[in-house]
Amino acid sequence: MKKPTTTYICQQCGATSPKWLGKCPSCGQWNTYNEEIVQTTTRISGGVSASGRAAIAKPLPISEIATTEAARIDTNNNEFNRVLGGGIVPGSVTLIGGEPGIGKSTLSLQIAINIPQKTLYVSGEESASQIKLRADRLKSSTDNCLILCEVTVENIIPQIRETKPGLVIIDSIQTLRTESVESSPGTVTQIRECADILIRHAKENNVPIILIGHINKDGNIAGPKILEHMVDTVLQFEGDSSHVYRVLRGIKNRFGTTSEVGIFEMLSNGLREVANPGELLLHQHDGNTSGVSVAAAVEGLRPFVIEIQSLVATAAYGVPQRSTTGYDPKRLNMLLAVLERRAGFRLGTKDVFLNVAGGIKIIDTAMDLAVMVAVLSSDLDIPIDPQTCFAGEVGLTGEIRPVSRVEQRITEAEKLGFRRIVISSSHKKNTAIMHTSSIEIVHCGKIEEVFRGLFVGKR
Ligand code: TYD
Ligand code: MG
Repeated sequence: MKKPTTTYICQQCGATSPKWLGKCPSCGQWNTYNEEIVQTTTRISGGVSASGRAAIAKPLPISEIATTEAARIDTNNNEFNRVLGGGIVPGSVTLIGGEPGIGKSTLSLQIAINIPQKTLYVSGEESASQIKLRADRLKSSTDNCLILCEVTVENIIPQIRETKPGLVIIDSIQTLRTESVESSPGTVTQIRECADILIRHAKENNVPIILIGHINKDGNIAGPKILEHMVDTVLQFEGDSSHVYRVLRGIKNRFGTTSEVGIFEMLSNGLREVANPGELLLHQHDGNTSGVSVAAAVEGLRPFVIEIQSLVATAAYGVPQRSTTGYDPKRLNMLLAVLERRAGFRLGTKDVFLNVAGGIKIIDTAMDLAVMVAVLSSDLDIPIDPQTCFAGEVGLTGEIRPVSRVEQRITEAEKLGFRRIVISSSHKKNTAIMHTSSIEIVHCGKIEEVFRGLFVGKR
C-alpha cells in the first residue's frame, strides 16, 4: 500500500512546509506546525456538489450582469440583524467566533428558534437532550427547529438537502470532519475542507449557513486565517464572562458595514437584546467617591454613556502594576506618559487599575479624556461632579482633539440628564448643536485646562 504523504501545516495561518519548523516564517508564530496527511482521496462528488466544477464560466461585461437584491431574512433579533446589516442574506455564510462559555451556542439556538424559517441546528459538541435542556432554559420551543447531532460533512449535506431548511447552523466548525481528508478534526486541513464543502453548498442552493468557530488564546478564530477569507461575514462575540453584557462585533461583512455592534445581556433565560445601552452601563454614582468619571462614547453608530473607574495606589512591590478591564492597556500607558510629561503628574511609582463598567470593550478614542480624569481623580482623591461627562481624544502633546459624532454624544448626555459635557475646543466651529442643546458645553484645548477646572482649589 502506498504510504500516505504528509506535510507540516501551520495551524495559525495555513502555511505548509515539508519539514517541521519551530517558528512559522509566514506568520511568525512559534510551535504552530502540525504534521497532517495530505488529501489522498479525490474530492467527494455526488451528494455534495450538484453542478460540479466542470462548467466553464464566461466573462461578461459588468453592465450586462443582472443583480438580484434578494430580501434579507429577518432573524427576529434586532441586535443580530443590526450587526449583519439588516438580516441574513440568502446563500451567505456567517462565521461567529468567541471564547468558550461566552454564549455562542445560546445565541445561535435562540436565533434558530425565533427565526420564522425552518432551521437545521447541527451540533457536534452537545447531545440532542443537552440542546433541549438549553431550549427549555430559553423558555421557547418550536417545531421549526430541527436538531442534528452529527460531525461528518458527508452525512450533514444530504440532511440539508432532505429537510430544506431556510437556515443552517453548525456548532462548531472545529468539530466537523470530512472523509475526503484524513487528518483529525480541528486541524487546518479538516476545517478548510469542511468549510469549503459547506460554503459551496450554501452558494449553490442559496441556503444561508452560520458557522460557529472557537477562538484560540490570542483571540483569533482558531484554524487558519483562510477561514475568514472564505466566509462572507465574520462576527466576534465578546465580553467578560464574569459580567452579563456581551458585544457582537462585525469584523468582516461583504453585505454591510462592520461599524455596527449588537449588545446583549446574558440572563438566566437566555440573551436579552439591549436596545438602549447607555442607561444600562451607567451606575449613578453619588459624587462622593473619587476615581469615577463618565465618558460619552460611541460604538458603531450608537452613543453610549459609560462609567470609568480608576484606582491609583502606591505600588506595594518594586514594579508598578497597570491593569485594565475593557480598555486597551497600551493606550492607558500612553495616557499616563502624557500625564507625566504634559501635566507633571508622576504616576511611575504607583499602581494604576482601570475598569470600564459592564466589562464590555468599547473601542473609541474619545474615552481618553474620561480615563485621564478618572485616574487623576483617584490619585488626588478629589471626586468628579456626577453630572459632568467627557468626550475627547488626547494627543501626545496633551491637546484635546475633536471626536466623531459629537452631536450624537451631546444629545445622548443631555437625554440622560447630564448638566455638563467637556469636549475639544475644535468643536467651537460647530455652532448648530451649541444653540439647540440645554446642556452646558465646556470647550477645552489642553488637558491642563481640564484639570485646572476640575481639581485646582477643590481640596
Ligand atoms: P454557551 O452558549 O454554551 O457558550 P459557548 O457556546 O460560547 O461556549 O453559554 C454558556 C454560558 O451561558 C454558561 O456559562 C451558562 C450561561 N447561560 C446563561 O447564563 N443563561 C442561559 O439561559 C443559558 C442558556 C446559558
Ligand atoms: Mg457552545
